[in-house]
Amino acid sequence: MAKTRNQYTCAACGGVSPKWTGQCPDCNSWNTLEEVPVEPAAGNRAARFQNVVTNPAKVSRLDEFATVNEVRISTGIAELDRVLGGGLVQGSVTLVGGDPGIGKSTLLIQALSSIAGHSGTPTLYISGEESADQVCLRARRLGLELSVLPILTENSLERILPIISVEKPRVLVFDSIQTAYTDLLQSAPGSVGQVRECAAQLVRLAKQSGISVFLVGHVTKDGSIAGPRVLEHMVDTVLYFEGDPGSRYRVIRSIKNRFGAVNELGVFAMTDRGLREITNPSAIFLATHDEQVPGSVVTVTREGTRPLLVEIQALVDPSALSNPRRVSVGLEQNRLAMLLAVLHRHAGIFSGDQDIFVNAVGGVRITETAADLPVLLAVLSSMRNTPLPAGLVTFGEIGLSGEVRPVQNGPERLKEAQKHGFRVAIAPVGNCPAKGIPGLDLIPVSRLTKVLDYLSGNHS
Ligand code: TYD
Ligand code: MG
Repeated sequence: MAKTRNQYTCAACGGVSPKWTGQCPDCNSWNTLEEVPVEPAAGNRAARFQNVVTNPAKVSRLDEFATVNEVRISTGIAELDRVLGGGLVQGSVTLVGGDPGIGKSTLLIQALSSIAGHSGTPTLYISGEESADQVCLRARRLGLELSVLPILTENSLERILPIISVEKPRVLVFDSIQTAYTDLLQSAPGSVGQVRECAAQLVRLAKQSGISVFLVGHVTKDGSIAGPRVLEHMVDTVLYFEGDPGSRYRVIRSIKNRFGAVNELGVFAMTDRGLREITNPSAIFLATHDEQVPGSVVTVTREGTRPLLVEIQALVDPSALSNPRRVSVGLEQNRLAMLLAVLHRHAGIFSGDQDIFVNAVGGVRITETAADLPVLLAVLSSMRNTPLPAGLVTFGEIGLSGEVRPVQNGPERLKEAQKHGFRVAIAPVGNCPAKGIPGLDLIPVSRLTKVLDYLSGNHS
């Protein structure tokens, strides 16, 4: 058998070099060379040409595959199934990323246990991080049925792959991909080259054998080097754990999903018996106040396919700094700066001498523009030290010319708010149904100035 060689490819320019150097000889970038294996081409040139002639590639029409059905396995955890787009697709590769200690291993061992327990589906948990004793102790503490959970503690891909072909699991967890290594490369486990090559081999395995694979990836300190990000393009689904380390709530978000909606959220609470599903997450993201307080607004965000009520808080305080602070937690910082500029330009409200802090309660992260109007109202309410009316909910995107733009799925958001007992809604005109929403007082707005008129007309 021909010997495999390794070469080094520059991640910036793609230049190839036979040996590792700190600086790429082609583009002069530093620390961009990564080790990649080079498979020697089989046979001589004439034989390869013959192969192309006798075995040409073929174009197919999609209707030839119309009989193929998507097979999904339920993980037995409804929140996880929803984030996956309705269950685990056979032969798919799912990357589960998140900070160390956030609960990745806990969730996956719980999922494996319920997959194996409900349908008798064979599973395999490969742990490169924890010993079998540790995994067993954890599973026992979680109250899982131990006899249905096969485990393998191994890091070498060359030793793992034959075991997989003997055990034939249908669902496989690899915890974590940063501990895996292949003999094809000389670099250390956890390096970009190793992580990529090991993941590529597992992806190939999943596609060929129909095994559904979960890869666990720790988010590393700088968030890029050999972290889960280098794998995102190779896998079918990318799930990230979010959440405040101090809070017991954990949110799983789908960042990429070839089989379902992105930005879908699954909400869990970390308890002493593992992760528990939260089926009514709106309740936990609303802080409970006995009376209305300045700087607090409730909005309906819609991450994925489910509307979610979230409280947004703002604190505006005169600044002692020449460059006042703008801090946002769970919301986009640049968007906040833009909104404050719109507020100044189109409503004449100046905040350049104030420190401004905004926060989405409960450790949730809001990425959509529907939070624009609520953020501005929270800022205004804190600035004027005036609470907003009780039972008010609001959402809407704000444009640079001071207009309030409609957002997706307006009526659905309004209904969710009404269901949770809200009575008044300030919403973009385009989002208010002509028939209205029973039980909800709608205030359609098209410009920021209209919102301010409404508020000052009501309580000043
Ligand atoms: P873990 O799943 O090991 O995290 P990861 O695999 O993402 O690194 O979770 C570890 C944390 O979860 C640890 O801080 C303890 C906590 N935990 C509980 O609070 N309750 C439990 O039942 C378990 C198993 C863990
Ligand atoms: Mg772990």
